[in-house]
Order: sequence, then C-alpha cells, then structure tokens
Amino acid sequence: MTAPARLLILGAGGQLGAELARRFAAESSGCPTPWSLTALSRAELNLADADALRTAIRHHAPQILINAAAYTAVDRAESERDQAFAANAVAPGILAEEMAQLGGWLLHYSTDYVFDGSGFLPWRESDPTGPLNVYGASKLAGEQAIAATSARHLIFRTSWVYAATGRNFLHTMLRLGRERDRLSIVADQIGAPTTAKALAAATVNLTLRLRDGFAPPSGLYHMSCAGETSWFGFAEAIFAAFSSHQPPPALTPIATTDYPTPARRPLNSRLDGSRLQRDLALRLPHWRDAFAEVAAALITTPAR
Ligand SMILES: NC(=O)c1ccc[n+]([C@@H]2O[C@H](COP(=O)([O-])OP(=O)(O)OC[C@H]3O[C@@H](n4cnc5c(N)ncnc54)[C@H](OP(=O)(O)O)[C@@H]3O)[C@@H](O)[C@H]2O)c1
Repeated sequence: MTAPARLLILGAGGQLGAELARRFAAESSGCPTPWSLTALSRAELNLADADALRTAIRHHAPQILINAAAYTAVDRAESERDQAFAANAVAPGILAEEMAQLGGWLLHYSTDYVFDGSGFLPWRESDPTGPLNVYGASKLAGEQAIAATSARHLIFRTSWVYAATGRNFLHTMLRLGRERDRLSIVADQIGAPTTAKALAAATVNLTLRLRDGFAPPSGLYHMSCAGETSWFGFAEAIFAAFSSHQPPPALTPIATTDYPTPARRPLNSRLDGSRLQRDLALRLPHWRDAFAEVAAALITTPAR
C-alpha cells in the first residue's frame, strides 16, 4: 500500500489556514491514497521562533508544506516592523531552507501590496514591485527569501481575502451597518475580493496533483478571484446580499485621500491570473460568485 503523503499546514487559526485544514480533512476521507495531515496554529508554532520552526519541520518532514500563517495587520505593521518582518520575511526563508533539505514543495501566499498601485492594468508576476507600506515590504522580502533557496516553491499573490469567519471587510461592513445609518467607503482602490474558500479549493486541487507527480515551474503566481471592484462596490454587494437581514446604510463613495490610515495602500490592486491558468491550469471564480457562496453560508449559519 502507498505510504500516506505528509502534508503540513501552518496558520491553521487564520481565515485561509482554517479553510485549508477543513478542506484537506474532507479530502482525506475516502481518499485511496491517504494524507498524513498536520495543521498547526500560532499557539502551536510561532513563526518568529526560528529554532522551533526548524525543529517542527524536521519532525514532521512534510512532502508539501503550506504556509498560510502571516503577520496581516497592515496598519499595525507600520509601528511593528520587526514583528512583521520576523513572520513575513525571515520565517518564509527558513521554511524554504528546510524544504530544500527535505526535497519537498513549499506553497506560500503573498499579496497585491507588493505593488505600488500605479496604472490601471492588472499586474503580472514579472512587473516591478514597489510596496507602499511595511506589510507589503515584509511580504516582498519573504518572496525573495524563498526564491533565494533551492526549494521547489509556489508563491501565490492574492488580494482582499475574506471568509465567513475572521477579521475582514465583510464583517466590518456588517457591524458598521448595524451601528450607523451612513458609511463613507473608499471607491478608488480597485481589486478583487477573494474568498479563503476559493483560494483553498485551488490550493487543494493543485496539492493533489503535486502529490501525484505534477512538477510545475517554481515561482510567483497571481491568484485572486476574477473580475474587479472597489471597496465601495464590494460594500454595495454586501449590503444588497444582507438587505433582508439588516437595513442597508446609505453609502457614500470617497477617495483614499479622504480616509487616511497609518499604512498607505495601492490604488491598483488588479492581479493578472494568466500565468496561474497557463502553468497550473487553475482559475478562481468571479468575485461576485465566490461572495454569493459565502453570503449564503453566513445567512444560513451566522458567524459566531
Ligand atoms: N487578508 C488579506 O486581505 C490578504 C490579502 C492578500 C494576501 N494575504 C495573504 O494571504 C495569507 C493568508 O491570510 P489570511 O487572510 O488567512 O490571514 P489571517 O486570517 O490573518 O491569518 C493569518 C494567521 O497567521 C497567524 N500568525 C500571525 N503571526 C504569526 C506568527 N508569528 N506565528 C504563527 N502564526 C502567526 C495568525 O494568528 P493570530 O490570529 O493569532 O495573529 C493567523 O492565524 C497570508 O500570507 C496573507 O499575507 C492576505
């Protein structure tokens, strides 16, 4: 009988990590070639502890390591640079070094915030980066640390991630909508809201193929839902979907300059997914379809 494929997921307490752990567990039941799946949360493994990271990876010796853990507090990162870089820049390099030793795959996630947001065209993987904030700079440094090793790796840059649970724009909007009659929402940052579910589905699909010997080129891949909107457009979609459960507030579109935040954010967050489709045969759903699924699930079972 074939030995179980060893899979290790980091960041199991986060939006994406939790969805990945759920999906892989479901995939394992009834699977002819079983997984040996370990999913670790921050409490079980801290990315900032380099020794613990190396020990854990050597202990689990995964064939595929999926890192969904990251320092994601974009505004706080401006005043917590060291913590952001420890988790987002140093740790991914260590993970890659260890996976190079093991000869396995490292799957890692990065962000549209590596770009400066100029122009109107969707960013390609080969486009020059220019992060506007500490979080983006730390994630870019993480990409570079991985690429500097000989580990087989796939880095997925994604955008505007949310899930039915977790700290995200969807829940912030629903809460603010209950508290206020009017909301002003930024309308000049353009990107694609991307569900953890869509990211996890694509990742699981790919992982099954990697396990079976698929060997795509290592490198960067842009992985976000199809289509585009602004935060204002996303807010409109959210309040329309939940209108029978809570009265929608009046929404006013505003410019980024009218909503100052500690971290600057890119105006153009469009990501071109052509490489993902060409080299990995993966395509994420349109953001509206992915949102409809999450909204339907939330309406049926409201978030705790
Ligand atoms: N969220 C977005 O809008 C967005 C956009 C583009 C790219 N991404 C990328 O997508 C990936 C998944 O993001 P997500 O939305 O799932 O983020 P998330 O919900 O914030 O989850 C990240 C997880 O990492 C954990 N973590 C933070 N610091 C850690 C550390 N030092 N050691 C171990 N674990 C640590 C967090 O734990 P705590 O909750 O305890 O802090 C959390 O469970 C990340 O690589 C992120 O950079 C996210």
